[in-house]
This record gives sequence, C-alpha cells and structure tokens, in this order.
Amino acid sequence: MPGPLKDEFTLVPPGQISAVVTHLEMRTQLPLRRDHVKQGEYALRRQPAPELGWYRELYRRVGQDWLWFSRLAMADAALIAITHDEAVEVHALRHRGRDEGILEIDFRRFPDVEIAFLGVVPSLLGKGAGRYLMNRALEIAWGRTPKRVTIHTCTLDHPRALEFYRKTGFVPYSRSVEIADDPRLHGILPRTAAPHVPIIE
Ligand SMILES: CC(C)(COP(=O)(O)OP(=O)(O)OC[C@H]1O[C@@H](n2cnc3c(N)ncnc32)[C@H](O)[C@@H]1OP(=O)(O)O)[C@@H](O)C(=O)NCCC(=O)NCCS
Repeated sequence: MPGPLKDEFTLVPPGQISAVVTHLEMRTQLPLRRDHVKQGEYALRRQPAPELGWYRELYRRVGQDWLWFSRLAMADAALIAITHDEAVEVHALRHRGRDEGILEIDFRRFPDVEIAFLGVVPSLLGKGAGRYLMNRALEIAWGRTPKRVTIHTCTLDHPRALEFYRKTGFVPYSRSVEIADDPRLHGILPRTAAPHVPIIE
C-alpha cells in the first residue's frame, strides 16, 4: 500500500536550481536501433588527454541550454584527474569538419561502465546525430564486455532524453534529487543560458 502523499513542498533556496535525476542501466547487450544518418556524414574521434579549453568549450556548447555546469565549475586539476584518466574516454562527434557533440565513457568502476555525458549541439537535435552517438557509445562500452552499462539524465536535460534512453533499452533503476547553486549566478554560465528555467534570486 503506498503511504499518504506528503502534503508539503521542499523549498529550494533562492539562487539554487533543482532536478530529479533518473538512473538507468542496461544489463545485457541489445541490438542497436537503426542509424538515421548517411554514411560518412558523422564520425567519432577520440580525444585522449583532452586540452581543457577545448573540452570545456565543447561541453558548454552542448550542455549550456540544459544547464550542464559540473565540469565548468571544476578546478583544472580536478578536471584533469578525470578527463586524463586512462579509464575515461572522451570523444568528439565530428560533423562537417567541426566538433558538434560530446561523448564521455567512464570505465573507472569496471565491470560497470557509465556513459557519463552524451549530447549534441542544439542545431543537430532531432536529426539523427543523437542516435548515431548513442550507437557508437554502446559499441565502445559493450566492446569491453562489461557487466552493465549505466547512464543518467535529469529533468534539466533535453525533454526527449529519458524516452530516448528507454527506447535504447536502458531501464530506470533509481531516482535522486539534485540541488545546486544556479551556475548562471556565479559566472559559470551566462545569465541567458536555458531561458526556459527561470532564475530565482
Ligand atoms: C539526448 C539526445 C542525445 C537525443 O538526441 P536526439 O537529437 O533527440 O536524437 P535523434 O535525432 O538521433 O533521434 C531521436 C528520434 O528522432 C527520430 N529521427 C531522427 N532523425 C531521423 C531521421 N533522419 N529519419 C527518421 N527518424 C528520425 C527517430 O524517431 C529517433 O529515435 P530512434 O533513433 O529511437 O528511432 C539529445 O536530445 C541531446 O543531445 N540533448 C542535449 C544533451 C542532453 O540532454 N543529453 C542527455 C543527458 S546526458
């Protein structure tokens, strides 16, 4: 029997943002969904030990509208400790000679493998680039024969992301709440980022 609904709200203090995070997993390798893009239109390029300026710029271009900020708020040494770790793979999605998407796969807790970041720039949303990137991510992840592949998405991410992951075959297994200082109030992202999420000061 479900308990009674709590008749109260949890206040998020002014100057902060909140999100519900859904954690998903895939425990067996599934057939990939069909790629929508023409052969040669997109490519994946691994960037070993990525230069921080390049990494932050690509992360910002992909994630700014979805208030991705964790990697932008990190000190250089902390970011290098992750992105230069041999068990972390950073890939760029190449399209027409430019880096237009980011994929980060984390093998540090093998046999669990986490797709830590996956996204394309706003101009490529809904055009098959996301599916291309996901298919390549799964090929890389399952290529190491892990026990499971995990991914998470939060309510600040693109509204299609959760359904996209479920269609891919990921199964939700837990949910958490994230509350953080609004990165737009600390110079980490511009105040104009993610206008659909109001700033409350
Ligand atoms: C999550 C994300 C990668 C999904 O990508 P997307 O752009 O919606 O994905 P696509 O355009 O590749 O595919 C979405 C659907 O559109 C349709 N579609 C896209 N291109 C198509 C085409 N050329 N022909 C037919 N159908 C097409 C398909 O139905 C497809 O779903 P399917 O592959 O399951 O069949 C993307 O929203 C994104 O990068 N968001 C920003 C970052 C983010 O929020 N990341 C998630 C948290 S880590």
